[in-house]
Amino acid sequence: MTSTANGKVLLFGEHAVVHGCSAIAAGIPAGARATARPADSWQLAAPCWGVDVREGDGGRLGEALAVLAELADGEPKRITIESELPAGAGLGSSAAMAVAAIRALRQGDGEQPLSFDELWQAALRVERVFHGNPSGLDHAAAIRGGVFRFRRNTPLPDITPLRLGAPMYLVIGQAEAGADTGVMVARFSDRLQRCTRTGAAVLDAFRAIVEDAAEAISAAETERLGELMTINHGLLQGMGVSTPALDAACAAAVSAGASGAKLTGAGGGGCMIALCENENVRATVQQALDALCLATWAIHLPRTT
Ligand code: PMV
Repeated sequence: MTSTANGKVLLFGEHAVVHGCSAIAAGIPAGARATARPADSWQLAAPCWGVDVREGDGGRLGEALAVLAELADGEPKRITIESELPAGAGLGSSAAMAVAAIRALRQGDGEQPLSFDELWQAALRVERVFHGNPSGLDHAAAIRGGVFRFRRNTPLPDITPLRLGAPMYLVIGQAEAGADTGVMVARFSDRLQRCTRTGAAVLDAFRAIVEDAAEAISAAETERLGELMTINHGLLQGMGVSTPALDAACAAAVSAGASGAKLTGAGGGGCMIALCENENVRATVQQALDALCLATWAIHLPRTT
């Protein structure tokens, strides 16, 4: 059985989402495919990321495999993952892997697809192995795709799909290798707590950015949306989760004509995104980023009617 799941970019509000604020994410076509075949023991292989673990192995991947085996509750399988996403760079590779693997293990050919709720709860168990206390945003995007607002809630998150008043032309640039999400989440949280009043004001600013951005997305206001991205980046930078390479890539994108740019995901390395007015600007911005980044991708999110 082969199944798929999306990768994602965080358009607004990463980190603040861990502390109960809303964020806006977009599923991207690049993602993961998982195939599960009967085997003599549980195995997880992702040649694209140099991963090959077996039942009983330690480390996070060994633990993730143990959770997948528990969720499948059946005969041992070899799960093979294929993906064009870079691992650990903020594009949701672990969530895409978890969701594709659960679908491959639990959903037989011709069977009713697993519900969002069931998949989200199951993938949360795998994501906890990788990220400690994940908001669940990554695997929500991996499951449903599209552009949506997300807020943590128990037992299930609040999700509101957003209508795009205009297509969005984005460039993703991988500025450098990614950092550990858990470490970056702890860095943001520590600064938030040490700087009590300022931290509260920063979270308020994140809330305001997401409100304004949701409005600008449906009203097709690309320039305003770009400005909000740049403000969002400034806040993340102030909170200590950007790096000189991410800052340089964002600055280069704006100099090349992008309406705005920000790091995306946990930061500390990994990827940034730049929003462009149209396809021509996107091509120029991508060229500028190609000179600075390890890899770039063009993303087109179509207008929704
Ligand atoms: O870098 P990623 O794809 O793991 O994104 C993490 C997003 C955070 O908001 C920093 C953490 C989370 O759990 O939402």
